[in-house]
Amino acid sequence: MNQSTWQSPSNIALVKYWGKKGFQLPANPSISFTLDNCFTETTLIWDDSDPDKNLVSVYVEGIENPAFVPKAEKFFNKLIELHPLLKDFRFELQTYNTFPHSSGIASSASSMSALALCCCDMLMQMDLLEIEFYRYASFLARIGSGSACRSVYGDVAMWGEHEAFPGSSDDFAIPVNEVHPVFKTYRDTILIIHEGQKSVSSTVGHGLLKNHPFAQSRFEIANRNMHRIRKIMTRGDVPLFTELVEAEAMMLHALMMTSDPNFLLMKSGTVAAIHAIRESRAEHKHNICFTLDAGANVHMLYPEEDSVFADELLNHTLVGFCEKGRYIRDNIGRGPIRLNA
Ligand code: PMV
Repeated sequence: MNQSTWQSPSNIALVKYWGKKGFQLPANPSISFTLDNCFTETTLIWDDSDPDKNLVSVYVEGIENPAFVPKAEKFFNKLIELHPLLKDFRFELQTYNTFPHSSGIASSASSMSALALCCCDMLMQMDLLEIEFYRYASFLARIGSGSACRSVYGDVAMWGEHEAFPGSSDDFAIPVNEVHPVFKTYRDTILIIHEGQKSVSSTVGHGLLKNHPFAQSRFEIANRNMHRIRKIMTRGDVPLFTELVEAEAMMLHALMMTSDPNFLLMKSGTVAAIHAIRESRAEHKHNICFTLDAGANVHMLYPEEDSVFADELLNHTLVGFCEKGRYIRDNIGRGPIRLNA
């Protein structure tokens, strides 16, 4: 059967990837929690009977959607460059997300990892897969979108060469196995502060690091933070985790605010949510913290034991900062699932 179906989740970075070098390589290493409920399900169908057909067609929730074709074409052209035997094949993608496109949640990590996993199945069926399955899936996902390469593993994954993580590489992500059980209980409640497209894409944002006056310091700090987070995650040091994760989120946005041209992705609701989380933590001594990706939405991260505090904070205060009162409940997850037999 010339088809494969995978479900693959999004992820949220703790130490952030911001800035590229070479072809889709990270300027600094990064580490993330793999999510669970925010995922993309993709079916890839391949066929070499009609080379005159368009290279790729994309169906989103059953409806043909040409808007996604250019990105998919770029990906498949690269795949064909790597595997010239695929040159006569044409590809159909059927895909849907559990989270709406308009929610402002980046879908590239889940969609590109799901696509890469389907491609690995295809290559395996054709006897063209020469590298360990998930490693190659991560490599291919990276070609589609950098952060997507971390989504092929469950729980915690890191990407980028770093001395504290043996076997790490700029080419693909690896799973992080030495993780204290407390982190396996982590929840991520995503506050939808702003729906819709963000004003500056992450591709543009990465590019602005090229001549950024703080780039070198940023890369040094990110490398140091990778050492720190490895220790924090092995020991289960939740207060230090909170400190580091929030500092990373703030630095990511500080880099945006000091780029040339500068830009601001936070909205007033983002700032209000940050203050509310910090004030509540100072008062109740819980371990709820926040992180941000390249957008206005706030990821509220906390261990399961702080769920009651989190729900109270959400219902009393934070929901008021969310557009149409919307938020998504998620948690650290087991990683992608193959849905075909
Ligand atoms: O994978 P991209 O190009 O969408 O970049 C993702 C950048 C951040 O989400 C801000 C950080 C990260 O490491 O995921």
